[in-house]
Amino acid sequence: MKLISRYTIMLLTFVVLLTAAVPSALASGTTGTSDSKKLVLGTSADFAPYEFHKVIDGKDEIVGFDIAIAKEIAADLGVELVIEDMGFDGLLPALQSGRVDIVISGMTPTEDRKKSIDFSNTYYKSKQVIMVRNEDKDKYPTMAELENEKIGAQKGSIQETIGQKIPGAKLTSLDKISDIVLQLQTKRINAAIVEDTVAAGYLDDMIGLAPAVPDEEQVAAAIGIRKGNTELLNAVNGTLERLKSENKIDQMVTEASQLMADREVKSPNIFEVFWQYKSFYATGVGYTLLLSALGVIFGVIIGLIICMFRMHDMAVLRWIGTAYVEVIRGTPMLVQLMIIYYGLSLTFGINFSALQAGIITLSINSGAYLAEIFRAGIQGVDRGQLEAARSLGMGRAAAMRFIILPQAFKAVLPAIGNEFVTIIKESSIISVIGMVDIMYQASVVKNITYQGMNPFLIAAAIYFVLTFILSKLLGRLERKLSASDRR
Ligand code: ARG
Repeated sequence: MKLISRYTIMLLTFVVLLTAAVPSALASGTTGTSDSKKLVLGTSADFAPYEFHKVIDGKDEIVGFDIAIAKEIAADLGVELVIEDMGFDGLLPALQSGRVDIVISGMTPTEDRKKSIDFSNTYYKSKQVIMVRNEDKDKYPTMAELENEKIGAQKGSIQETIGQKIPGAKLTSLDKISDIVLQLQTKRINAAIVEDTVAAGYLDDMIGLAPAVPDEEQVAAAIGIRKGNTELLNAVNGTLERLKSENKIDQMVTEASQLMADREVKSPNIFEVFWQYKSFYATGVGYTLLLSALGVIFGVIIGLIICMFRMHDMAVLRWIGTAYVEVIRGTPMLVQLMIIYYGLSLTFGINFSALQAGIITLSINSGAYLAEIFRAGIQGVDRGQLEAARSLGMGRAAAMRFIILPQAFKAVLPAIGNEFVTIIKESSIISVIGMVDIMYQASVVKNITYQGMNPFLIAAAIYFVLTFILSKLLGRLERKLSASDRR
């Protein structure tokens, strides 16, 4: 009895320490919260010439006239500019929760948005247009022809709102403009609503503009700032007025449009894509391995604890262990990720960076699966082993440590190996919050090259190589361990 309570206390202390230590240990990464020496810009870099990815001297950079404006603001404030690229519909929550300080993303200051954030003066005006495949141009002379059509628009944008108002239209809303263009090219949608300045960058032999225009009214872009941050708002307006009076904004638009226009015409093959963007994928591999390795390490720790809970003599702990396993296994990891990344941030102000949120989600998730694997292993060891150990005078803990666990470990090693392989693959989900892993890099390359297949085939090959090497290594370890059996 004495032993059990000591065990329990040790266990609980460990859990408390762990929950306290993990976030602070990981906090050394980018925390994304506002720092006085930094200006964190939130943007959705799929919107050339406003903001877009471009390879400059072999390195991926985010450029565009919004970025040029952001640089001027940062320079006027005397701080360093940090850019966070995310989905357009993630920008408002990111600003409200303090993950970013400022949003410059070709954003129109609508009444709805003004309820949650403040806007600067406007700095650019544009018009809505309808992108179609060239062969369909004459099909859409007016807006009326869009009724009951399959159309596309960017998620969270005013174009999405326009699309929603077209009677009977089947609207596909996606995160990135390039995905919408891909849908148009592959005939999944027949028309897309975008801004004229942006559409210009996508027009080619295949994609053109329909004569129909949903909205003759011009819409403007403004800079988003957290409500009540008047100091920053005034500084931003100050910079904008200066740029306007110096005619700088027009100049920035021209420069950005030139950068946008000089994209590669010839489509590289898969080897050329890989070679050209190898540094992207290399960064991705680094982050995928970091995510998976830390996910596995913390996952094993959580798994061991939960497993002990599930097999504990105290009913409460058993109940907690079971509840944990059932809840985590019964909900999608993507949902868990959203709760940890957005939920905790908007509700409790706990701002994890993408890396932190990713590691926490992976650990929590794999912890549940590993706990079950460990339990199966321990229960699979013949009861006689424990009885024999105890009758030799070993305590419960010693019997566990020296007799049961080594046998259990050997038995479940293949299952643990499978779990590791799974984590490497599942970590790709973390890319949706902007974690720059292999999957994310593949999307970036897709956005730059306008290729739908090669960037992902390369990602698939890399994931396969990683998991293949890992299972070979684990197979070796297994053979080594079973060799000791035969001795
Ligand atoms: N002006 C439109 C809006 O405010 C679209 C902006 C999209 N911006 C972007 N970076 N993708 O809804």
